[in-house]
Amino acid sequence: MNATPAPRKTVLSGVRPTGPLHLGNYVGALRNWVKFQDLYRCFYAIVTWHALSSEYMNAKAIKGWSFEIAVDWLSVGLDPDKCVLFVQSEVKEHAELHLLLSMVTPLPWLERVPTYKEQLKELQEKELNTYGFLGYPVLQAADIVIYKADYVPVGEDQAAHVELTREIVRRFNRIFGPIFPEPQTMLTEIPRLAGTDGRKMSKSYGNAVYLKDSAETIRQKIMPMVTDTRRVRRSDPGEPDDCPVFTLHKAFVPKDKQDEIARGCRTAGIGCRDCKGVVLEHLFRFLEPVWERRRRFEEHPEKIWEILEAGNVQARRVAQATMAEVRDALGF
Ligand code: TRP
Ligand code: SF4
Repeated sequence: MNATPAPRKTVLSGVRPTGPLHLGNYVGALRNWVKFQDLYRCFYAIVTWHALSSEYMNAKAIKGWSFEIAVDWLSVGLDPDKCVLFVQSEVKEHAELHLLLSMVTPLPWLERVPTYKEQLKELQEKELNTYGFLGYPVLQAADIVIYKADYVPVGEDQAAHVELTREIVRRFNRIFGPIFPEPQTMLTEIPRLAGTDGRKMSKSYGNAVYLKDSAETIRQKIMPMVTDTRRVRRSDPGEPDDCPVFTLHKAFVPKDKQDEIARGCRTAGIGCRDCKGVVLEHLFRFLEPVWERRRRFEEHPEKIWEILEAGNVQARRVAQATMAEVRDALGF
């Protein structure tokens, strides 16, 4: 007997196009997105309007950044035959749903989102005291529920936005009838990657290794990296768990080799130079097919826009069906 297989669950996630992606983005998110494309019905959005909420003074740069994100995505193996890769602002239904959701979202819910006040404080050089910036999580909720997503793979910093999405969904469904499922955050254990200065790898710290960096650039970034400060001399033993370089080993070096290196570090059997050599070797092994795919796509930039446009069409189809249901529920 053949039971009909359960329909695949839907995944949605998004990236703000504000610059190229780095190894931390890969380990923290993209690596999982690539796996999910074989397991779920996946929608991955380049969220241009979210980028605009903080970068409206650089609006003209957002299109180029979007292109870079698409190249990064394709180069790490996101496959347009397996998942929908699209541009948020090309699916106008997101804006309509954002408007409708905003009608039922009480202001205090937005004001108490922890990222809101933090960002206002952190990005003081930008004028973020805007209506659009306060509504950022409502737009995010629209992104998620317009595809009726079950799972939202995001880092911990975004968990509050998914929680708010659930609250908005409950309120909307109570008023207009059950239309949207409540999405769940998919928190994956994320090995935190350190950047070249030992702090968390981040574009804004200027300490990132980018997916598009060349082998030479990466070598120049990794070789001078700070290590466990106990290893003043080659003969001083160290502790890999206190070493920023070892966060890269944890992400890119096979477990048995990692264990060997950790022992070597603790017994001063291996020097930091050689240890960095090992991580570079494995990084390059991972990056070679990534660079190869990038090279092929960069020869045909028009292909990138075609892939995104095909994704926009697929996304629109789903988003339009949902909006038809929503307007119906409103009696419009
Ligand atoms: N706010 C997310 C971030 O900064 C980006 C984003 C926008 C998103 N819409 C989304 C993430 C929908 C997941 C689902 O990373
Ligand atoms: Fe870090 Fe490796 Fe040096 Fe140990 S040997 S301190 S893990 S770089």
